[in-house]
Amino acid sequence: MELAQGNDDVRELRRQLEETNKAMWSLYKDLDDRNAELDRFALIASHDLKEPARRVMARLDRLEAECGDRLDAAGKDHVADMRQTLERMTTLIEALLNFARVTSQGGPFAPTDLNAVADEVVADLSSRIREAEARIELGELPTIDGDPLQLHPLLQNLIGNALKFRKESLPPVIRVTSRLIADDSCEIRVADNGIGFDPRYAQQVLQPFRRRHGRGRYDGIGMGLAICDKIATRHGGTITLDGVLGEGTTVTVVLPRNHAVRPAPTEA
Ligand SMILES: Nc1ncnc2c1ncn2[C@@H]1O[C@H](COP(=O)(O)OP(=O)(O)O)[C@@H](O)[C@H]1O
Ligand SMILES: [Mg+2]
Repeated sequence: MELAQGNDDVRELRRQLEETNKAMWSLYKDLDDRNAELDRFALIASHDLKEPARRVMARLDRLEAECGDRLDAAGKDHVADMRQTLERMTTLIEALLNFARVTSQGGPFAPTDLNAVADEVVADLSSRIREAEARIELGELPTIDGDPLQLHPLLQNLIGNALKFRKESLPPVIRVTSRLIADDSCEIRVADNGIGFDPRYAQQVLQPFRRRHGRGRYDGIGMGLAICDKIATRHGGTITLDGVLGEGTTVTVVLPRNHAVRPAPTEA
């Protein structure tokens, strides 16, 4: 009698669990659809903004070429200012497009040797590394299932930031290390001895166009980490920042090593 009751309870619990599971998947699907919609919006909006920006720039070129000598100092100043603003706008549009493309134009996943990716990134950044007199220490990195065309900019943005936000008084030392963690995932860390940042803003700087270090001193528009975050998410992973103001920053990326059970997301 008690056994039968127990079995019924288990059956009922299982039914409830299945229902919850179904509801969760439907929510997840909904969220995924909304994200895809947002991406499409960003893609179309930024694409459509490019053309008018290009036309205004062409007009400015003509204005300078045809009427440049009739402009006085103030007029020339206005033109220069407009040109600068327009260039910045074009950079922002381009960044927004790149952000939207992470999901809409992501490539297939394949076994990717992160040592090779890191070597390529260091080669790409070699002139900046030399100029900063930086030392890059690359630890042994794993091979993971991923999109090599995205894992490259992921590491490049992180090492690029570590180079950019360096202390003037100290040659940068940037360590890229990894370790395997539970759940068949790996953790990649990029640690620097730069200017650091207030960890209260660790979440905020992952959002598009959010920066903690002002324009003027450090160039950039605040899209690098947002793109890294999106790439990590597309790979089923996460990214977190840890920093101490004035002492350095560590960025930790956790990525699954295998996607046998979870194929690469296709069209967003
Ligand atoms: N290694 C780092 N050291 C200190 N601050 C950092 C580091 N990486 C990122 N940040 C902070 O996070 C902000 C956002 O980074 P990111 O999205 O790459 O934008 P950007 O490089 O264009 O400023 C930066 O403006 C900076 O304030
Ligand atoms: Mg950056």
